[in-house]
Amino acid sequence: MAARAQSTTPVRKVPIHLQSAQNRLLIKNGKVVNGDGIQDADVYIEEGIIKQVGNNLIVPGGSRLIDARGKYVIPGGIDTHTHLQLPFMGTTTADDFYTGTRAALAGGTTTIIDFVIPSKGQSLIEAYKQWRERADEKVACDYALHVAVTWWSPEVQQEMEELCRDHGINSFKMFMAYKDLWQLDDTELFEAFERCKQLGAVAQVHAENGDIIKENCKKLLAAGVTGPEGHEMSRPEEVEAEAVNRACVLANQVNCPLYIVKMTGAGSARLLADKRGQGLIVYGEVTAAALATAAQCDMGSWSHGAAYLTSPPLRPDPETPQILMDLLSSDDLQLTGTDHCTFSSAQKEMGKGDFTKIPNGVNGVEERMSLIWEKGVVSGKMDPTRFVAVTSMNAAKIFNMYPKKGCIAVGSDADIVIWDPKLEHTISAATHHSAVDFNIFEGITCRGGPEYVIANGRVTVDEGQVKAVQGYGSFIPTSPFAPFVYEAVTEREKVHQLIKVEREGRIVAVRNTMVPVVPQATSNGEALELNLSSVNGGEEVVAAADHHFASHQHFTRPPTSSGGRNMQDTTFSLSSEYPSMADVEEEAKGKKNSIQVKNPPGGKSSGPFW
Ligand code: URP
Ligand code: ZN
Repeated sequence: MAARAQSTTPVRKVPIHLQSAQNRLLIKNGKVVNGDGIQDADVYIEEGIIKQVGNNLIVPGGSRLIDARGKYVIPGGIDTHTHLQLPFMGTTTADDFYTGTRAALAGGTTTIIDFVIPSKGQSLIEAYKQWRERADEKVACDYALHVAVTWWSPEVQQEMEELCRDHGINSFKMFMAYKDLWQLDDTELFEAFERCKQLGAVAQVHAENGDIIKENCKKLLAAGVTGPEGHEMSRPEEVEAEAVNRACVLANQVNCPLYIVKMTGAGSARLLADKRGQGLIVYGEVTAAALATAAQCDMGSWSHGAAYLTSPPLRPDPETPQILMDLLSSDDLQLTGTDHCTFSSAQKEMGKGDFTKIPNGVNGVEERMSLIWEKGVVSGKMDPTRFVAVTSMNAAKIFNMYPKKGCIAVGSDADIVIWDPKLEHTISAATHHSAVDFNIFEGITCRGGPEYVIANGRVTVDEGQVKAVQGYGSFIPTSPFAPFVYEAVTEREKVHQLIKVEREGRIVAVRNTMVPVVPQATSNGEALELNLSSVNGGEEVVAAADHHFASHQHFTRPPTSSGGRNMQDTTFSLSSEYPSMADVEEEAKGKKNSIQVKNPPGGKSSGPFW
């Protein structure tokens, strides 16, 4: 039986000097934006929780009043992808859990999700505890954790369960890159996906083909390509797209929900959109960096190129950020993080003479919200509700924090940003809050930004002034089986129940109860013949029969009226050209010799899973 997290409500450490009437706040006259709508409403907050939303609210005297006229009142951002205080490539990131979360708050993000990355062979629980120790004393905003699975063994599988059950973890990241360091092979990935599905966790992947990258790096270095431009050359777009496709296929085989982190290639993102169109439960994350800047590795100085180096790489095609923004606007990609993983210019210099030694990573935790507003909303590609969906709501739903986080509603945490669409700000390393000495968005002007940022009821950005408090944030445990993700998984599981077909007391085949049996066409378009009488008896043939029976379902989820994907409905494409279930049953009983069908409409199926 799968693990369910214990309800561990975090106890907030509120310093005495912060326990005041400031805990009672009334935000008046703003436009309250959630992922599904906008309303003119006031919001009353007490003790860190939203107590009332509406008009003509009756509130206790002494509450602080914030006038939000002409502004949007939005849920605090959730950055799904950060690396703070990460030991990596022989050094440690410039931002620790304090400077990183202070930068997050400055930009309107009130929750981050960081990655525990155990070293190969290290206990996952031990690594988790290290991360908690590092983070708990420093975080200025709330945080949750994903755990990376960097090696594979029965102990790891056991610890995954323990993490879900006892430690508030509901997502695991597997690396398809970083060969010899963190990369898992396909069998391990397959098993890890199976384990995630059993546990009700979200399987995340860093999708790049690490084997190809390793070979390309060797060739490039041998040919004298040592500068930062070698990084993108070693891992072009198709190296990402191949891994995206492989991850989707593997996850679909075991009906495991999949989440691809920080996609940077337009082709990969379109591929993911196709997979979603075929009904796969897969989500795509894109970073502020990929949405707002193209690669600059082959331009300017060595240090400039090195500063932009991250994995997967920012793509040289200047059209890519706009394409990714289009896909994000239309729900082909679902949410945004930053992969905020900062290294100073001096740290980047570790790779002088060998691009494979340049620490990978860029900034973004502070700039994400403003950049997406500028490139998404101001550009007319998305409305404020979509902005909320991609900056907080979808993350909260996928990682099971909703409606505690990711919305403005009675009972939700008072994580709120008063967003001023008239605020104008030019990004610069000279004024940012990160500890790093370079900003990859230097000089970009964003129209729209946070005037007030309220984290758990406390005003942490006050009229633009950042007032972060070290250690104020809390760890947010996340439970497995997020309904947003797992309702659909469970339905698919039911629909695709398998029934054994027995003949003369022996199992000869296993068939799916709900889908037509549609043998796939050959490449020249002719129908294949599936002749059950030629299937030998015995358990050992079941797998082969499974493949014939289950690999030809054709189903898609229709888009919702709003253009988003309908997460609940499944429609089956049935055709009279297909054999009926009675035919199949007769065939199984030996009354018919074979089943023959024509090439099914809709092309190839999405494959078997059980
Ligand atoms: O390229 C980056 N950001 N490195 C950090 C580790 C990872 O790939 O997430
Ligand atoms: Zn990362």
